[in-house]
Amino acid sequence: MAKAIGVDIGGTGIKAGIVDLTHGTMASDRVRVPTPEGASPQDVLTAVQTVLQKLEVADSTLPLGVAFPAIVKRGKTLSAANVSKEWLDFDAERFFRDGLQRNIIFVNDADAAGVAEARHGAARDVPGLTLMTTLGTGIGSSFLYNGVLVPNSELGHLNFREYDSVERWAATSARERENLTWVEWAGRLQEFYSHIEFLFSPDLFVVGGGVSKNADDFLPLLELRTPIVPAIHRNNSGIIGAASLAGD
Ligand code: BGC
Repeated sequence: MAKAIGVDIGGTGIKAGIVDLTHGTMASDRVRVPTPEGASPQDVLTAVQTVLQKLEVADSTLPLGVAFPAIVKRGKTLSAANVSKEWLDFDAERFFRDGLQRNIIFVNDADAAGVAEARHGAARDVPGLTLMTTLGTGIGSSFLYNGVLVPNSELGHLNFREYDSVERWAATSARERENLTWVEWAGRLQEFYSHIEFLFSPDLFVVGGGVSKNADDFLPLLELRTPIVPAIHRNNSGIIGAASLAGD
């Protein structure tokens, strides 16, 4: 069985697992450590070393993919919305390769999640445009056209009303911070998804992030022309996608 390791660095937790690349499923338990306060590169590297030790793969030669909540172009992180500004214009792939003493690939977290759902999940064999969104600390997005990733869309940073980024108003973190009911939050999601539906006319929306396990509480409240479904791999999509890309 071909295997690889996926690490998904989020705003609150760093999660990792070994992935069965043939089936796109977890081949180990998921391990998690909290994201260090401030999320500086050095602290995040140390935390990733800890998850790899917990997974007992720190010395293995399995391919390793790391998903991160920023624009990632040719291994460099070019944005830093919910992490330390040290990540701006930072050669993250090289930093992790040197720090972990192994080859790695570094990728945007929502793009990784989208790849997992396109290859092995809710967007598998879907023709046309799938728009994956992840609802968490921020809002991540991933464009897949006939299963091919178009990387580094950043729909969570669309300007909206007085917000420079719609994620400040509509992400899971906004629901928690403002104690919104499902109905209230769904009202915000309605505006977000209607807007991006108008802009891009997708064929399918896939919704990931931790809250996808509560999909029944809010997805049925949305009225869209486009089908909208939860990510099959729920909050493991980032791990599975990062590992899949590392295994390519
Ligand atoms: C970041 C994206 C990321 C998303 C979800 C946003 O704030 O800009 O790169 O995909 O959060 O983590």
